[in-house]
Parts: sequence; C-alpha cells; structure tokens
Amino acid sequence: MTKGLFITFEGADGCGKTTQLMLLAKYLKSKGRDVIVTREPGARGLGEKIREILLNYDGEVSSQAEAFLFLADRAQHIDVIVNPAVKNGKIVLCDRHTDSTIAYQGYGRGLDIDRIKMLNNLATGDRRPDLTFVFDIDVETSMKRVGNEKDRMESAGVEFFNRVRNGYHKISELEPERVKVLDASKSIEDIHKEVVALYESLN
Ligand code: TYD
Repeated sequence: MTKGLFITFEGADGCGKTTQLMLLAKYLKSKGRDVIVTREPGARGLGEKIREILLNYDGEVSSQAEAFLFLADRAQHIDVIVNPAVKNGKIVLCDRHTDSTIAYQGYGRGLDIDRIKMLNNLATGDRRPDLTFVFDIDVETSMKRVGNEKDRMESAGVEFFNRVRNGYHKISELEPERVKVLDASKSIEDIHKEVVALYESLN
C-alpha cells in the first residue's frame, strides 16, 4: 500500500487556495493516487451543523466559544474522515486546518497562541499535516475577491485580516519545513506548478 498523506491548504479568505487544492487533486488523480478532498469547518454530518453556526449565527459569539466550535469540528473531522483515509493510504487534501485557528482565533482575535496550539493538539491527537501551503495575498485584494456578500468571519474588518496574514507568516517562520508560503498574486498556472514541485519534493 502507498503511504497516506495529509496536506492542508491555508490563507486568508479569497486567496485562491480552494482552486489550488482542486488542481492538485486533479494532478494526483492523473498519477493514479487515491485522493480525498475535504475541508474545515464542516466536511459533512455534524461538521456541517457546526459550520452553519460558525458562519451564519448572528447573535453574540465569544472568541473562546468560536475557537471551541472550530476545535469540535476538527476533532470530529480527524477521527471520522482524515485518520481512516490516511491510514488507508489515501492522500487527504484539506481546505483549512489547525493553522487557521492559530491565524484567525490566535493572531486575529487575540487568543493566547500557546493555548490554541495545546487545544489543536487535543483535537487532532497524533495527526499532523505532512505539508501545508499558505497562499499569501494582500488584504485589499482578498477583500475585493470576497465581495459584498460576507459571512460572519469575513465581516471581521481590515485590521483583523492584517493580523491573520501576519499570523500565517509567523507560523511559517516557526515551521519552514512543513509550511510553505506561496505568492497568491501570481497566475493560477504558475502557482499550481509551485504546488506540484513542493509536493514532489516530499517524496
Ligand atoms: P469558508 O467559507 O470555508 O472560507 P474559505 O473559503 O475562505 O476557507 O469559511 C471558513 C471561515 O472560517 C474562514 O473565514 C476562516 C474561518 N476559520 C477560522 O476562523 N478558524 C478556523 O480554525 C477555521 C478552520 C476557519
């Protein structure tokens, strides 16, 4: 059996990570690999219910409660979807994971970073991404791409998204082997080539 892999895609809203995830999935399938595409929050089942609250609930949500909701979704996702697939030799491509909580709830909302790391570890057990792509984009461009129909998270404002972006830079500085930052202002095709090259360098 080929070795399973867990690869995560990160970045601000509108950075183009989902497009790149789908392109890598297509590439891997063309090479005969068994690929699963998934996301946080809300891959399916219970996760979809949690996602609905996180993105659409319009009452007050404390930053702590928000973090725990993302973490509950993550714990379920790892147990029910990610771990079984990786153990079966599949490549799991996941749209957002632990680094989103560090960047958004930690750097963005101002929760304690070490505590979030500890909680991430509780939610994920032994599972860590083998590779993480961060698609880096300036806040103005990302806001333009998101447009006017913003969900609860996207409505957080420019200062918040500057902190999130800065957070992703710090994350990659601490773990350069795992976390690769790509310039998301380049063309889709150029970024895809970089993604494939970085994936290939894993092997
Ligand atoms: P989604 O519609 O999936 O956005 P995107 O297409 O940009 O990934 O919404 C997920 C939102 O939740 C997004 O704004 C990022 C945010 N988020 C966090 O704040 N913390 C987290 O741990 C995760 C997984 C996502």
